[in-house]
Amino acid sequence: MQLLSTAEADIRRAAEALKAGLLVAFPTETVYGLGADAFNTAALARVFAVKGRPHFDPLIIHIAALEFLDRLADLSALNPELREKVALLADQLWPGPLTLILPKRPSVPDLATSGLPTAAIRFPNHPAAQSLIRLSTGAVAAPSANLFGRLSPTRAEHVRDQLGEKVDFIIDGGRTVVGVESTVLDLSGGSGIPRILRPGGVSREAIETLIGEVAFPGLAGGHTGDQTVEAPGQLKSHYAPRTPLSLHSPEIMAALPYTPGEIYLFFSPATRDPWLAEQTRRGAAPPPDSVRVLSPCSSTQEAASNLFDLLHEMDRLNASRIRAEEAPLVELGPAINDRLFRAASK
Ligand code: TXA
Ligand code: MG
Repeated sequence: MQLLSTAEADIRRAAEALKAGLLVAFPTETVYGLGADAFNTAALARVFAVKGRPHFDPLIIHIAALEFLDRLADLSALNPELREKVALLADQLWPGPLTLILPKRPSVPDLATSGLPTAAIRFPNHPAAQSLIRLSTGAVAAPSANLFGRLSPTRAEHVRDQLGEKVDFIIDGGRTVVGVESTVLDLSGGSGIPRILRPGGVSREAIETLIGEVAFPGLAGGHTGDQTVEAPGQLKSHYAPRTPLSLHSPEIMAALPYTPGEIYLFFSPATRDPWLAEQTRRGAAPPPDSVRVLSPCSSTQEAASNLFDLLHEMDRLNASRIRAEEAPLVELGPAINDRLFRAASK
């Protein structure tokens, strides 16, 4: 494995490697992706093997020019209303953390889509990712660059630690900004109502402002939802640290007594501070390392950006358990709770 920078010469080298069928891990605005040329079936097969990912879990194809949307997706198979919604979303939210599920063209290999008649397409908002895609074949299939079921990588080191020598190149672009994966929105359904299959970096609110109501089956009953598998890859246990994790409502979290050996991940200082004061009053002040907050500013965006980074860090502390507080159910809160819920479902 060779570590590359985001300098132009390095990106060119990585693009040549992709064209030659090699695997390149690269930064996006959400998490690092494990990239392969979307039209090269041998390279795609290696992506599944390297991640230990089941073949029924399809890949997102990354593009960096809108004309590729038309080359990969058959928009004529949609009714005019949905076609209009796709155009609005692509125009307003791309490049960005939004993946669209659309009827696929026959040229998209079945391996990329797990044999489904649809393809997942995303235009990432990251300069290095965009250059890499443009300089290669224009369509790069990339799952998150972690081992199947493990924490997603928000730094090049996370990729190196999990995949190491199994990949050919890692482009180090520093820490990712958004911090959770893209929102997966299915526009291929016959019902005509787009459905969020995975909450992510674009909020439901932002999508509904643009195209009107969307279905959000995964969150029907609060953070958990009914655990039916909507996106094939949305298995219940996922994004898991090695340390066992429990997810608590703010009320339960506030009432937990500090247990030595456990570590506590609060959403914001608003819940952490009274909790800390209470533990101190009881003469059981926890060590500073064992109490963290996702968002010092109480913003779901900031919390999402810190989520995987903090979980990676906390996972190194050899604690007996991580106790995490649910995020509020607005903006990126559902995406955060989705990841924490799956991390807790090991
Ligand atoms: O932000 C992201 O989306 C990152 C970066 C690298 O772009 N990628 C990512 O890929 O999270 P991955 O493979 O970890 O997750 C892709 C998700 C899976 O839940 C998969 O089941 C779903 O997208 N998906 C892919 N193709 C699909 C399809 N045709 N129909 C339904 N779901 C699909
Ligand atoms: Mg993933």
